Amino acid sequence: MNCDPLARWYRWLEYAGFGRALERRRTAFLAAMTTARQVLVLGDGDGRFLSAFLQTNRHAEVDTVDSSAAMLTLARQRVSDTDTPRVRFHHADATRWQPPAVSYDLIVTHFFLDCFTNGELRPLVARLSAFAAPGARWVVSEFHQPDAGLAAWHARAWIAGLYAFFRVVTGLRVRRLPDHAATLATAGFRLEREEIARFGLLTSQLWRRESTTGFCV
Ligand SMILES: C[S@@+](CC[C@H](N)C(=O)[O-])C[C@H]1O[C@@H](n2cnc3c(N)ncnc32)[C@H](O)[C@@H]1O
Repeated sequence: MNCDPLARWYRWLEYAGFGRALERRRTAFLAAMTTARQVLVLGDGDGRFLSAFLQTNRHAEVDTVDSSAAMLTLARQRVSDTDTPRVRFHHADATRWQPPAVSYDLIVTHFFLDCFTNGELRPLVARLSAFAAPGARWVVSEFHQPDAGLAAWHARAWIAGLYAFFRVVTGLRVRRLPDHAATLATAGFRLEREEIARFGLLTSQLWRRESTTGFCV
């Protein structure tokens, strides 16, 4: 997936399709993130979440990883000079990126896990979970497919349209949402809070790693 051609239009296309709905999902649990100290943000795109997070949490150090150089350039521009020293920008493929030897107490993925198939997501989550401290939180925003009724049809149309769009513009090969909930649960995370929006199409979730799960690097 190459988001470079999309980067400068990304925000405006999002607002055209969803207004501020995705932004509300990304910031849904900001208030619960103020105590985090070592944070990993994956696939943040143009950095709008990162910028909002840094304004809310004045102490955390952040590793942010994105495979798109153009997205990272926009993200860098959004971070103030004061906050820059506490952010490490990594231009890398998250599936191969080797985290520094830190123990994250917060991992954040907004509309990122849907860029992977189940077969790709499992090893990615398992590998990165090894860098999550016991009790660490994982905040997720994602598209969501309701089971039945009009909401199911509405979501199916949006999700199919979005995957078709990303396939043409970025080369994304994924065609359906992976089961990120099962993957996180298998990695030892438990769902603590969830907000559903847009007739079930959007979800924000706060997961916590069971404190008994070991940490290793
Ligand atoms: C759909 S966009 C989501 C951007 C942003 N998080 C949001 O909430 O809108 C997916 C982002 O993940 C990045 N990405 C996709 N696959 C990646 C990978 N394997 N490693 C790192 N970043 C990746 C893309 O470059 C893009 O910035």
